[in-house]
Amino acid sequence: MNIQPDFAPPPTKVTDQVIPVIDIGPLLAQENDAINCVAEQLNIACSNIGFFFVTNHGISEDVISKSFEISKEYFSLPFEEKMKVRMNRHQCGYMPPDVAIHNDTFEIRNTALTAQHSEAFKFTFDLNQDHPDFGKNIRFRGHNKWPDSDVCPGLHEAFMGFHNSFQSLGMSLLAPLAISLDLPHNYFNKYFIDSSSMTRIAYYPPIDGKSNQVALPGHRDSSFLSFIPPATRPGLEIMTNNGEWIEQPIVNDAVLVNTGTALVEWINDRYLATPHRVRADSQEPRYSNIFFFYPNVYSLLECPETCLSPANQTKYPPFTFGDFHAGFCERNFGYAEDWN
Ligand SMILES: [Fe+2]
Repeated sequence: MNIQPDFAPPPTKVTDQVIPVIDIGPLLAQENDAINCVAEQLNIACSNIGFFFVTNHGISEDVISKSFEISKEYFSLPFEEKMKVRMNRHQCGYMPPDVAIHNDTFEIRNTALTAQHSEAFKFTFDLNQDHPDFGKNIRFRGHNKWPDSDVCPGLHEAFMGFHNSFQSLGMSLLAPLAISLDLPHNYFNKYFIDSSSMTRIAYYPPIDGKSNQVALPGHRDSSFLSFIPPATRPGLEIMTNNGEWIEQPIVNDAVLVNTGTALVEWINDRYLATPHRVRADSQEPRYSNIFFFYPNVYSLLECPETCLSPANQTKYPPFTFGDFHAGFCERNFGYAEDWN
């Protein structure tokens, strides 16, 4: 195997608008024709780069900033305290440092092949006691692990506020996304009843004297869509079609969105799922909160007719998101496969 050097050349700074910016204010206000206008822009963005910004997205700055405030408090707790809610096989709870190896990566460097130094806290929706899935051993359904409320007051409210806000934002993009694929506007909605979306609250410690290393190696997300509000530090890099790594541009008050492989395999690669990575920071800790918009775990996701043609036959057999996600976890989050 030809190991690449740990040093990764700095990314290209982009000056022109490589990542499209989509104003969804008119869509959320249900203005005439806004849905078709957004659909058209989604089609261009998802066909060409697989990333786009949304502006006027309706999520208050308070919701986002509160999630970062609590994240800093949480990750500063003693290790033993965090480990009381150690992650389970459903990917809920605290991921300690030096356990995760992203085996799906295509980067072959020591920093990609050894465990990452970052920590994370992940969660999905809580289930009410009267939900049919409550208390059952169904993977990825209602297995959240929350710290005691006196350990980090306000954590549950802040994190679920973030999660629910982004879930609503994801739901509002389903119709234009469906139209962009020549599907009925409500095509995707039924798959998001009992959605299994997850939020990942992450902490990347500074790595002394090791700038220009990769903290999270290049990968494609397994999500339907991922929503990335601005992190506390730069570091996110995106690979363009010609293989060049670019630094994530900053757009004020915007949320970055990318398409994931669950969507892209569902629609037979009609859109792109674009590789991205996180560069290590030698100066400051980096906090990043990302919402992964997932369908429910049960429905069979079968390629729609509009994504097939004689020249583009189906490449992927129908799959459930539950099986798809379990496979992704086994390959990339193997450390937690037998954690309770
Ligand atoms: Fe990612």
